[in-house]
Amino acid sequence: QRHLISAADLTRDDAVLILDTAEEMARVADRPIKKLPTLRGRTVVNLFFEDSTRTRISFEAAEKRLSADVINFSAKGSSVSKGESLKDTAQTLEAMGVDAVVIRHSASGAPYRLATSGWIDAVVINAGDGTHQHPTQALLDAFTMRRRLIGRDAGLGQDLDGRRITVVGDVLHSRVARSNVDLLHTLGAEVTLVAPPTLLPVGVETWPCEVSYDLDATLPKSDAVMMLRVQRERMNAAFFPTEREYSRRYGLDADRMAKMPEHAIVMHPGPMVRGMEITAEVADSERCTVVEQVANGVSIRMAVLYLLLGGNEPAVTHTRTTEE
Ligand code: CP
Repeated sequence: QRHLISAADLTRDDAVLILDTAEEMARVADRPIKKLPTLRGRTVVNLFFEDSTRTRISFEAAEKRLSADVINFSAKGSSVSKGESLKDTAQTLEAMGVDAVVIRHSASGAPYRLATSGWIDAVVINAGDGTHQHPTQALLDAFTMRRRLIGRDAGLGQDLDGRRITVVGDVLHSRVARSNVDLLHTLGAEVTLVAPPTLLPVGVETWPCEVSYDLDATLPKSDAVMMLRVQRERMNAAFFPTEREYSRRYGLDADRMAKMPEHAIVMHPGPMVRGMEITAEVADSERCTVVEQVANGVSIRMAVLYLLLGGNEPAVTHTRTTEE
Protein backbone atom coordinates (compact mmCIF):
# COMPACT_ATOMS: atom_id res chain seq x y z
CA GLN A 1 0.00 0.00 0.00
CA ARG A 2 1.38 3.36 -0.95
CA HIS A 3 0.23 6.75 0.31
CA LEU A 4 1.46 10.34 0.58
CA ILE A 5 0.96 11.45 4.17
CA SER A 6 3.99 13.55 5.09
CA ALA A 7 6.81 15.36 3.30
CA ALA A 8 9.08 13.79 5.93
CA ASP A 9 8.40 10.37 4.37
CA LEU A 10 9.97 11.36 1.04
CA THR A 11 13.57 10.47 0.28
CA ARG A 12 15.58 12.81 -1.93
CA ASP A 13 15.10 10.39 -4.85
CA ASP A 14 11.31 10.25 -4.25
CA ALA A 15 11.09 14.04 -4.19
CA VAL A 16 13.25 14.56 -7.30
CA LEU A 17 11.23 11.91 -9.18
CA ILE A 18 7.98 13.75 -8.31
CA LEU A 19 9.49 17.13 -9.35
CA ASP A 20 10.80 15.68 -12.63
CA THR A 21 7.46 13.97 -13.34
CA ALA A 22 5.70 17.28 -12.66
CA GLU A 23 7.89 18.90 -15.35
CA GLU A 24 6.55 16.30 -17.79
CA MET A 25 2.99 16.97 -16.60
CA ALA A 26 3.46 20.74 -17.00
CA ARG A 27 3.93 20.14 -20.75
CA VAL A 28 0.37 18.77 -20.88
CA ALA A 29 -0.88 22.16 -19.63
CA ASP A 30 0.76 23.82 -22.66
CA ARG A 31 -1.22 21.62 -25.11
CA PRO A 32 -4.53 22.67 -26.69
CA ILE A 33 -6.14 19.51 -25.20
CA LYS A 34 -4.89 19.27 -21.63
CA LYS A 35 -5.68 15.59 -21.04
CA LEU A 36 -3.86 12.24 -20.61
CA PRO A 37 -5.64 8.84 -20.53
CA THR A 38 -3.46 7.56 -17.63
CA LEU A 39 -6.14 7.19 -14.94
CA ARG A 40 -9.06 6.23 -17.18
CA GLY A 41 -11.34 3.89 -15.20
CA ARG A 42 -9.87 4.91 -11.82
CA THR A 43 -12.00 6.77 -9.27
CA VAL A 44 -10.62 9.48 -6.99
CA VAL A 45 -12.61 11.10 -4.18
CA ASN A 46 -11.74 14.52 -2.85
CA LEU A 47 -12.73 14.34 0.82
CA PHE A 48 -12.66 17.85 2.25
CA PHE A 49 -13.59 18.31 5.91
CA GLU A 50 -12.00 21.77 5.97
CA ASP A 51 -12.27 24.76 3.62
CA SER A 52 -9.99 25.02 0.61
CA THR A 53 -9.82 26.92 -2.66
CA ARG A 54 -6.45 26.16 -4.28
CA THR A 55 -5.85 22.58 -3.12
CA ARG A 56 -9.38 21.33 -3.82
CA ILE A 57 -9.62 22.90 -7.27
CA SER A 58 -6.11 21.92 -8.34
CA PHE A 59 -6.53 18.29 -7.23
CA GLU A 60 -9.77 18.17 -9.23
CA ALA A 61 -8.08 19.71 -12.27
CA ALA A 62 -5.17 17.24 -11.95
CA GLU A 63 -7.51 14.25 -11.66
CA LYS A 64 -9.55 15.35 -14.68
CA ARG A 65 -6.42 15.98 -16.77
CA LEU A 66 -5.42 12.37 -16.04
CA SER A 67 -8.95 11.19 -17.07
CA ALA A 68 -9.91 9.84 -13.62
CA ASP A 69 -13.54 9.69 -12.49
CA VAL A 70 -13.82 12.35 -9.77
CA ILE A 71 -16.14 12.46 -6.75
CA ASN A 72 -16.13 15.65 -4.69
CA PHE A 73 -17.15 15.40 -1.05
CA SER A 74 -17.47 18.37 1.25
CA ALA A 75 -18.25 17.84 4.94
CA LYS A 76 -20.59 20.82 4.78
CA GLY A 77 -23.92 19.51 3.50
CA SER A 78 -22.96 15.84 4.11
CA SER A 79 -23.96 13.42 6.87
CA VAL A 80 -20.81 14.45 8.79
CA SER A 81 -22.92 17.38 10.05
CA LYS A 82 -25.31 14.74 11.51
CA GLY A 83 -22.44 13.20 13.49
CA GLU A 84 -21.17 10.54 11.08
CA SER A 85 -17.61 9.44 11.89
CA LEU A 86 -14.53 9.42 9.65
CA LYS A 87 -14.63 5.61 9.71
CA ASP A 88 -18.25 5.39 8.51
CA THR A 89 -17.65 8.08 5.88
CA ALA A 90 -14.56 6.20 4.65
CA GLN A 91 -16.36 2.87 4.53
CA THR A 92 -19.18 4.45 2.53
CA LEU A 93 -16.60 5.56 -0.02
CA GLU A 94 -14.93 2.13 0.03
CA ALA A 95 -18.29 0.52 -0.78
CA MET A 96 -18.40 2.72 -3.89
CA GLY A 97 -15.05 1.35 -5.05
CA VAL A 98 -12.75 4.38 -4.91
CA ASP A 99 -9.09 3.94 -5.85
CA ALA A 100 -7.72 7.04 -4.11
CA VAL A 101 -8.84 9.40 -1.37
CA VAL A 102 -7.51 12.95 -1.25
CA ILE A 103 -8.26 14.13 2.27
CA ARG A 104 -8.16 17.51 4.02
CA HIS A 105 -9.07 17.49 7.71
CA SER A 106 -8.76 19.88 10.64
CA ALA A 107 -7.44 17.05 12.85
CA SER A 108 -3.69 16.42 12.61
CA GLY A 109 -3.21 12.73 11.88
CA ALA A 110 -6.60 12.09 10.15
CA PRO A 111 -4.98 11.03 6.80
CA TYR A 112 -2.54 8.76 8.68
CA ARG A 113 -5.46 7.16 10.52
CA LEU A 114 -7.29 6.62 7.23
CA ALA A 115 -4.20 5.09 5.59
CA THR A 116 -3.33 2.72 8.44
CA SER A 117 -6.75 1.83 9.92
CA GLY A 118 -7.64 -0.91 7.47
CA TRP A 119 -11.01 0.83 6.88
CA ILE A 120 -10.23 1.28 3.19
CA ASP A 121 -7.89 -0.16 0.53
CA ALA A 122 -7.57 3.07 -1.43
CA VAL A 123 -4.43 5.17 -1.78
CA VAL A 124 -4.54 8.09 0.67
CA ILE A 125 -3.13 11.51 -0.23
CA ASN A 126 -2.91 14.17 2.47
CA ALA A 127 -4.27 17.52 1.25
CA GLY A 128 -3.55 19.20 4.59
CA ASP A 129 -4.24 17.94 8.14
CA GLY A 130 -4.56 20.40 11.01
CA THR A 131 -1.22 21.97 11.88
CA HIS A 132 0.65 18.83 10.81
CA GLN A 133 1.46 18.39 7.09
CA HIS A 134 0.58 19.55 3.58
CA PRO A 135 3.02 17.55 1.45
CA THR A 136 1.76 18.51 -2.03
CA GLN A 137 2.06 22.21 -1.04
CA ALA A 138 5.73 21.65 -0.12
CA LEU A 139 6.28 19.82 -3.41
CA LEU A 140 4.71 22.59 -5.50
CA ASP A 141 6.73 25.15 -3.55
CA ALA A 142 9.98 23.23 -4.26
CA PHE A 143 8.94 22.90 -7.91
CA THR A 144 8.39 26.68 -8.12
CA MET A 145 11.76 27.39 -6.44
CA ARG A 146 13.55 24.97 -8.72
CA ARG A 147 12.07 26.56 -11.84
CA ARG A 148 12.72 30.12 -10.68
CA LEU A 149 16.11 29.69 -8.97
CA ILE A 150 17.73 27.00 -11.14
CA GLY A 151 15.79 27.33 -14.39
CA ARG A 152 13.06 25.39 -16.12
CA ASP A 153 15.29 23.43 -18.49
CA ALA A 154 18.14 22.92 -16.04
CA GLY A 155 15.69 21.69 -13.41
CA LEU A 156 15.41 17.98 -14.28
CA GLY A 157 17.19 15.80 -11.76
CA GLN A 158 18.39 18.77 -9.72
CA ASP A 159 17.59 19.67 -6.16
CA LEU A 160 17.86 22.88 -4.17
CA ASP A 161 21.26 22.20 -2.63
CA GLY A 162 22.58 25.25 -0.75
CA ARG A 163 19.65 27.55 -1.61
CA ARG A 164 18.66 29.78 1.30
CA ILE A 165 14.92 29.79 1.99
CA THR A 166 13.32 32.04 4.62
CA VAL A 167 9.85 31.16 5.96
CA VAL A 168 8.16 34.03 7.79
CA GLY A 169 5.15 34.23 10.10
CA ASP A 170 2.76 31.94 11.95
CA VAL A 171 4.93 28.81 12.01
CA LEU A 172 3.06 27.55 15.10
CA HIS A 173 -0.13 26.77 13.16
CA SER A 174 1.43 26.14 9.75
CA ARG A 175 1.40 22.70 8.13
CA VAL A 176 2.96 24.47 5.13
CA ALA A 177 5.98 25.51 7.22
CA ARG A 178 6.43 22.00 8.67
CA SER A 179 6.17 20.33 5.26
CA ASN A 180 8.53 22.83 3.66
CA VAL A 181 11.16 22.48 6.38
CA ASP A 182 11.08 18.68 5.96
CA LEU A 183 11.20 18.66 2.16
CA LEU A 184 13.66 21.53 1.70
CA HIS A 185 16.04 19.92 4.20
CA THR A 186 15.82 16.65 2.24
CA LEU A 187 16.60 18.59 -0.96
CA GLY A 188 19.67 20.22 0.60
CA ALA A 189 18.34 23.76 1.08
CA GLU A 190 19.10 25.88 4.15
CA VAL A 191 15.88 27.03 5.82
CA THR A 192 15.51 29.90 8.29
CA LEU A 193 12.23 30.43 10.14
CA VAL A 194 11.45 34.03 11.14
CA ALA A 195 8.57 34.54 13.59
CA PRO A 196 7.62 36.18 16.86
CA PRO A 197 8.42 33.80 19.77
CA THR A 198 4.65 33.42 20.42
CA LEU A 199 4.14 31.94 16.93
CA LEU A 200 6.88 29.31 17.10
CA PRO A 201 6.07 25.75 18.24
CA VAL A 202 7.61 24.09 21.29
CA GLY A 203 10.54 21.96 20.12
CA VAL A 204 11.29 24.05 17.01
CA GLU A 205 14.97 23.94 18.00
CA THR A 206 14.99 20.26 17.03
CA TRP A 207 13.77 21.00 13.47
CA PRO A 208 16.42 20.89 10.69
CA CYS A 209 16.53 24.69 10.25
CA GLU A 210 17.65 27.97 11.81
CA VAL A 211 15.35 30.30 13.76
CA SER A 212 15.54 34.11 13.78
CA TYR A 213 13.39 36.95 15.13
CA ASP A 214 14.97 39.53 12.81
CA LEU A 215 13.42 39.64 9.33
CA ASP A 216 15.47 42.64 8.14
CA ALA A 217 18.74 40.83 8.90
CA THR A 218 17.57 37.64 7.13
CA LEU A 219 16.21 39.12 3.89
CA PRO A 220 19.58 39.99 2.25
CA LYS A 221 20.70 36.34 2.72
CA SER A 222 17.58 34.78 1.13
CA ASP A 223 17.03 33.22 -2.30
CA ALA A 224 13.31 32.83 -1.58
CA VAL A 225 11.12 34.38 1.11
CA MET A 226 7.91 32.51 1.91
CA MET A 227 5.30 34.54 3.76
CA LEU A 228 2.73 32.69 5.90
CA ARG A 229 -0.78 33.77 6.81
CA VAL A 230 -1.55 34.32 10.51
CA GLN A 231 -4.14 31.59 11.15
CA ARG A 232 -6.53 33.38 13.50
CA GLU A 233 -9.07 30.55 13.12
CA ARG A 234 -6.70 28.15 14.90
CA MET A 235 -6.03 30.53 17.84
CA ASN A 236 -7.97 30.28 21.09
CA ALA A 237 -6.44 33.24 22.92
CA ALA A 238 -6.05 36.84 21.79
CA PHE A 239 -3.50 37.30 19.03
CA PHE A 240 -0.11 38.53 20.22
CA PRO A 241 1.61 40.61 18.99
CA THR A 242 -1.14 42.96 17.79
CA GLU A 243 -1.88 42.98 14.07
CA ARG A 244 -0.25 46.41 13.70
CA GLU A 245 2.90 45.29 15.56
CA TYR A 246 2.99 42.05 13.57
CA SER A 247 2.79 43.90 10.24
CA ARG A 248 5.46 46.38 11.33
CA ARG A 249 7.95 43.68 12.39
CA TYR A 250 7.11 40.71 10.19
CA GLY A 251 5.13 42.06 7.23
CA LEU A 252 6.73 42.25 3.78
CA ASP A 253 6.40 45.64 2.08
CA ALA A 254 8.25 47.16 -0.88
CA ASP A 255 10.98 48.69 1.32
CA ARG A 256 11.71 45.33 2.88
CA MET A 257 11.54 43.50 -0.45
CA ALA A 258 14.25 45.87 -1.74
CA LYS A 259 16.60 44.33 0.85
CA MET A 260 16.39 40.95 -0.87
CA PRO A 261 18.99 39.98 -3.51
CA GLU A 262 17.87 40.85 -7.05
CA HIS A 263 17.27 37.22 -8.06
CA ALA A 264 15.28 36.36 -4.91
CA ILE A 265 11.56 35.53 -5.11
CA VAL A 266 8.60 36.13 -2.79
CA MET A 267 6.30 33.15 -2.18
CA HIS A 268 2.98 32.66 -0.40
CA PRO A 269 0.90 29.44 -0.22
CA GLY A 270 -2.35 31.44 -0.14
CA PRO A 271 -4.81 32.54 0.96
CA MET A 272 -3.07 35.91 1.50
CA VAL A 273 -4.23 38.59 3.91
CA ARG A 274 -3.12 41.69 2.02
CA GLY A 275 -2.02 44.44 4.36
CA MET A 276 -1.18 42.00 7.16
CA GLU A 277 1.74 39.68 6.24
CA ILE A 278 2.19 41.10 2.73
CA THR A 279 1.30 44.43 1.10
CA ALA A 280 -0.72 44.52 -2.13
CA GLU A 281 2.29 46.08 -3.88
CA VAL A 282 4.50 43.08 -3.02
CA ALA A 283 1.73 40.53 -3.69
CA ASP A 284 1.20 41.96 -7.19
CA SER A 285 4.90 42.39 -8.01
CA GLU A 286 6.83 40.40 -10.63
CA ARG A 287 8.87 38.83 -7.86
CA CYS A 288 5.84 37.26 -6.18
CA THR A 289 5.14 33.70 -7.38
CA VAL A 290 1.76 33.13 -5.72
CA VAL A 291 -0.18 32.61 -8.99
CA GLU A 292 2.66 30.51 -10.46
CA GLN A 293 2.55 28.32 -7.33
CA VAL A 294 -1.15 27.60 -7.96
CA ALA A 295 -0.48 26.63 -11.60
CA ASN A 296 2.46 24.46 -10.53
CA GLY A 297 0.17 22.78 -7.99
CA VAL A 298 -1.78 21.12 -10.80
CA SER A 299 1.42 19.64 -12.31
CA ILE A 300 2.63 18.40 -8.92
CA ARG A 301 -0.73 16.81 -8.10
CA MET A 302 -0.85 15.15 -11.52
CA ALA A 303 2.63 13.75 -10.84
CA VAL A 304 1.68 12.43 -7.39
CA LEU A 305 -1.55 10.83 -8.69
CA TYR A 306 0.27 9.35 -11.66
CA LEU A 307 3.07 7.86 -9.54
CA LEU A 308 0.72 6.48 -6.86
CA LEU A 309 -2.03 5.18 -9.14
CA GLY A 310 -0.72 4.85 -12.63
CA GLY A 311 3.08 4.92 -12.77
CA ASN A 312 5.45 1.95 -12.74
CA GLU A 313 8.06 3.48 -10.44
CA PRO A 314 7.72 2.83 -6.67
CA ALA A 315 8.00 6.57 -6.07
CA VAL A 316 6.16 7.58 -2.95
CA THR A 317 6.20 5.11 -0.11
CA HIS A 318 4.70 5.81 3.26
CA THR A 319 7.11 4.88 6.04
CA ARG A 320 6.17 6.93 9.09
CA THR A 321 4.16 9.88 10.31
CA THR A 322 4.21 11.74 13.61
CA GLU A 323 0.72 12.24 15.01
CA GLU A 324 0.55 15.50 16.95
N1 CP B 1 -2.41 26.72 0.00
C1 CP B 1 -3.58 26.13 0.31
O1 CP B 1 -3.62 25.04 0.85
O2 CP B 1 -4.69 26.86 -0.02
P1 CP B 1 -6.20 26.36 0.19
O3 CP B 1 -6.44 26.31 1.69
O4 CP B 1 -7.06 27.39 -0.50
O5 CP B 1 -6.32 25.01 -0.41
